[in-house]
Amino acid sequence: MNASDKHWSNIYTNTPMNRLGWYEESPKVILEQIGKLDLKDGANIFIPGVGLSSIAKTLTDNGFTVETTDISSSAVDEFRRMYPELANNIYQHNITEPLNKVDYFDLWIDRAVLHFLLSDQAIQSYLENMNRALKIGGYIVLAQFAISGAEKCAGLPVKRYSPESLSDLLSAKYLSAKYLPVHTSEFTFFNPAGEAKPYTLGIFQRVS
Ligand SMILES: C[S@@+](CC[C@H](N)C(=O)[O-])C[C@H]1O[C@@H](n2cnc3c(N)ncnc32)[C@H](O)[C@@H]1O
Repeated sequence: MNASDKHWSNIYTNTPMNRLGWYEESPKVILEQIGKLDLKDGANIFIPGVGLSSIAKTLTDNGFTVETTDISSSAVDEFRRMYPELANNIYQHNITEPLNKVDYFDLWIDRAVLHFLLSDQAIQSYLENMNRALKIGGYIVLAQFAISGAEKCAGLPVKRYSPESLSDLLSAKYLSAKYLPVHTSEFTFFNPAGEAKPYTLGIFQRVS
């Protein structure tokens, strides 16, 4: 088990799901935004760092085909136990390592994973994965800690984003793909301890 797997698996093994700082019974904000996108039945959706989120099950129940990953082996095991019908739709993977899917996904959803990537190199690897895996016309939904948000999450430092800096990230010159913003906003998530966690939400469409 590498250090990242160990860090996250320690959290997942020792914390009841509904006490995790990022736990939400239903990811309402993201689901509401996804409902506005013109996705076809059976569209392919990718969710890196899914943790134990119910979003994969909800989207599957709504007719989409969902593939998920997590860096934590314990999260993957627990996800399989909670959602046996999705046992083959999750695998352990670090999102900065190459994905084996090319031009495949219609939607990429990341809630609170990208913000753990601090170095330019890690962020660039993430974006290259996205460029390769997302179809032209596909969408990205990113929900990351806002500038006014906490400096740490799960004991790790995070890079916080504003609507502008998320848009800048997706229009970086080195990207081989072009993305246009569909929606950006800020919202507040109240975690299980009742603490306000400001998030930035960015939805983008790949146009070339
Ligand atoms: C704050 S939690 C959010 C979980 C889930 N996205 C949600 O909204 O409930 C971050 C998740 O990302 C996973 N993670 C952290 N770094 C990762 C990486 N480099 N690649 C894939 N997953 C990662 C963690 O194991 C954890 O499950």
